[in-house]
Amino acid sequence: MKLEIRLVEAILYVLPAYCANGAPVLFTRWMHVLHPIDMGLRFIDGRRVLGDGKTFEGLLVGVASGLTVGLGIYAIVPQFYRTLVEVMLLTVGAMAGDVLGAFIKRRMGLNRGAPAPVLDQLSFLVTALLLIYLTVGLPGWLNAETLLGIAAFTALLHVGTNYGAYKLGLKDRPW
Ligand code: CTP
Ligand code: MG
Repeated sequence: MKLEIRLVEAILYVLPAYCANGAPVLFTRWMHVLHPIDMGLRFIDGRRVLGDGKTFEGLLVGVASGLTVGLGIYAIVPQFYRTLVEVMLLTVGAMAGDVLGAFIKRRMGLNRGAPAPVLDQLSFLVTALLLIYLTVGLPGWLNAETLLGIAAFTALLHVGTNYGAYKLGLKDRPW
């Protein structure tokens, strides 16, 4: 199969992870009360464990969006995912990766919202795919070349959508 076709397939495959990662920034804007996952607690380094950018509301919205989109894809092309568990793993993995990324950023001394190239764009995808790899295994068609392609596409898409969201006034910073 040509790389372009496998890339389109790969993007569709990880779409639940994209939606889970992108939904919180859109939906939490209209929520007046937000509850940080770390409940305001500080780590041994004196800094916030995760910071105010990771909330329970964002987590819920992300999980709901990822699952909804994944179920939609599954309903239209049932053969696409080997099992619905895959959709769940992609969604949960994306949210866990985002939280892990924030934990690492805080440990690096970066404040909430500060840019961390690579980590900001790829922590959700890498964690989602790692979770798939460790549990049900990566799909047979997802080879190293396609993985690199999807990583590059995701990084560009992340930068582009964040800039777009900033221009539209949905985000305070362009990253
Ligand atoms: N968000 C949320 N809960 C989550 C993830 C995201 O409420 N679990 C919301 C927050 O309002 C956050 C915004 O989506 O500010 C954008 O997400 P992201 O860029 O990942 O967070 P940052 O503000 O950049 O914070 P961090 O430096 O911790 O990544
Ligand atoms: Mg950010």
